[in-house]
Amino acid sequence: MDNRPIGIFDSGLGGLTCIPALRSALPNESFVYFGDTARTPYGSKDPETIREFSGQIAAFLVSQNVKMIAIACNTVSSTCLLSLRERFPGIPFVGIIEPAAKAIRETCRPGESVGVIGTKATIASNIYPKLLAGSGVRLSQKACPAFVPLIEEGLDDTDIMRLTVRHYLDGFLAENAIETLLLACTHYPLITDDILALYPSLRIVNSSETIAGDVRAELERLDLLADGTVPPKDAFYASDLSENFLNMINRISVSSDFRVAFHHGF
Ligand code: DGL
Repeated sequence: MDNRPIGIFDSGLGGLTCIPALRSALPNESFVYFGDTARTPYGSKDPETIREFSGQIAAFLVSQNVKMIAIACNTVSSTCLLSLRERFPGIPFVGIIEPAAKAIRETCRPGESVGVIGTKATIASNIYPKLLAGSGVRLSQKACPAFVPLIEEGLDDTDIMRLTVRHYLDGFLAENAIETLLLACTHYPLITDDILALYPSLRIVNSSETIAGDVRAELERLDLLADGTVPPKDAFYASDLSENFLNMINRISVSSDFRVAFHHGF
């Protein structure tokens, strides 16, 4: 049993899309979220830069006395999970790639044509094809680097967003006869409606909904679940408190008791 909070981070507001599933799987837990809104997007940066930024955030979360860190970011999970585990051996880290790949393995039939969309870094890491080798699905990948800046700008549900979706997906979906699309970036659930408006027959798998199961399993395995004697209290930190980040927090309204704070100083 451990009543300390769970740390969660992402390059920006995208990781907030993981919170509803985490809250429902872990009703007694408190969360400390960090969004690096001042330096987003990570997905087009060099892996060495992503490792440096992620290490700074993990150190900050450790200073907040977290008992575990959930990486609510495909880009960071695909490039830094091992280096973070090496650098912070006392902290359990849960990444988002394994649970998202598991969701594909468990819900797709052999021969199904699955598209993976994500940032440049996630796609270049080839981590999904590696994890899904032997699963029987036909996998195609596409980097969609303009999605995250538009989403951070709050431009979901606009003509420019739908034009960008068509720019990346029209040819990709048609050429590969994609049946199921894995949103392998935690920002992308915010444009699910834009995608489905254009391709209504597509089945969407949302990586943000998959991490909660692994976080719970790891807490149980390590006997770190909160015991329910302390009411959950969440904290949301951002390196730049953008209006859109605040709007998103209000949109997901994860708990009745939370505070929002600015953290700068990396
Ligand atoms: N939300 C992050 C992910 O899941 C990516 C955002 C970025 O490019 O910074 O990959």
